[in-house]
Amino acid sequence: MDTDTTQTPPQPPASPRATRGRTLVLVLTLMSAAWLLTAAGFFPPAGQKKGDALRLLGRLHPLMVHLPVTLVPLAVLFEALGVFKRFEHLKRAAGLVLGMAALTAVGAAVHGYLLASADGYEVTSLLKWHMWTGISVAILTMGCWTVRCFTPSRWWLGSLYVLLLTGTVGTLFVAAHFGGSLSHGEDYLTEFLPPSIRGRLGIQLHKKAGSPTAQAGETRPSGPPTVYFTIIAPALERHCVQCHGAVKIKGGLRLDSLDSLLKGGKTGAVVTPKDSAKSDLYRRITLKSDDEDYMPPDGKPSLPADVVKIIGWWIQDGASGQRMLDDLKSAPQDIQQAAIRLTAGK
Ligand code: HEC
Repeated sequence: MDTDTTQTPPQPPASPRATRGRTLVLVLTLMSAAWLLTAAGFFPPAGQKKGDALRLLGRLHPLMVHLPVTLVPLAVLFEALGVFKRFEHLKRAAGLVLGMAALTAVGAAVHGYLLASADGYEVTSLLKWHMWTGISVAILTMGCWTVRCFTPSRWWLGSLYVLLLTGTVGTLFVAAHFGGSLSHGEDYLTEFLPPSIRGRLGIQLHKKAGSPTAQAGETRPSGPPTVYFTIIAPALERHCVQCHGAVKIKGGLRLDSLDSLLKGGKTGAVVTPKDSAKSDLYRRITLKSDDEDYMPPDGKPSLPADVVKIIGWWIQDGASGQRMLDDLKSAPQDIQQAAIRLTAGK
């Protein structure tokens, strides 16, 4: 490439104040990058719960992220408009906005790291992707800010700046998408797309936990009501899926679909059809509630006794998704009565 120096007007030497300012920005950038990369690389989240203060700080993350998510595009807008003579004044404001974007992006990344490390999040690949793209956004935004501060001194820094800023916006969208998937379930955006469009885009629904139709949606058979979908799935949804669903997969076990329930967790199958005594799931919901293995743990509201009875019967019967509510007529009296109590008013 030919450098046409006549196009760049000679720059006056930077004042000592400006030099100090940009050195400070450079140091801040290096420190934030070092902190974030060391924390996430060497002390990655491990699904633990830490003290209340750390968890509180972590939970500020969803609030904090709105700042860089707004400020980065705003800085881009100011830079773009600033190209035109009419909006030249915005160009000067762009630096300030970018600085705020960078500092808040680092803040959001730190809070995000604390949230992931201290609040008992299951470390899924989605969580890791979100963490690393989020950290990249923070470092890239700081990088943009630094390069912008140094731009007057080197002609090529201007091009690098544009490149970096573009990369930052792209990464920001990806990170935000992963974050949205984490908090709302991966299907939040695509769930209500017409199936034909979804098919063309190659998107498959995951039927994530937490989404209102997670159980009632796709796989629910249209025929007569089944025991699993009418009684068991809604109870698991209410009492178990917050820890055994898409967002947290405690013990490697998901209970948000019949398939995953039958598949089991990290110690293998948790349901042995026709043998409730051998079924870890049934064992855990019938223990004394102060037992270490009892589910749900931590004093969370227990499954209703009637549901526990029905689950025991259903496993003993073969844990079939095809078992109809009507079939309970041939079940023992107490099971029938439990089912009547549970389905009354449905
Ligand atoms: C507050 C979070 C939480 C809730 C709610 C919860 N669990 Fe768990 N569950 C865990 C944790 C943590 C583990 C892994 C530690 C262990 O094995 O005790 C686990 C493990 C399990 C396992 C063993 C998985 C394996 O393969 O090792 C089963 C079965 C289970 N849970 C069933 C349930 C059922 C049924 C419910 C709802 C009634 C439920 N859990 C609700 C946190 C929870």
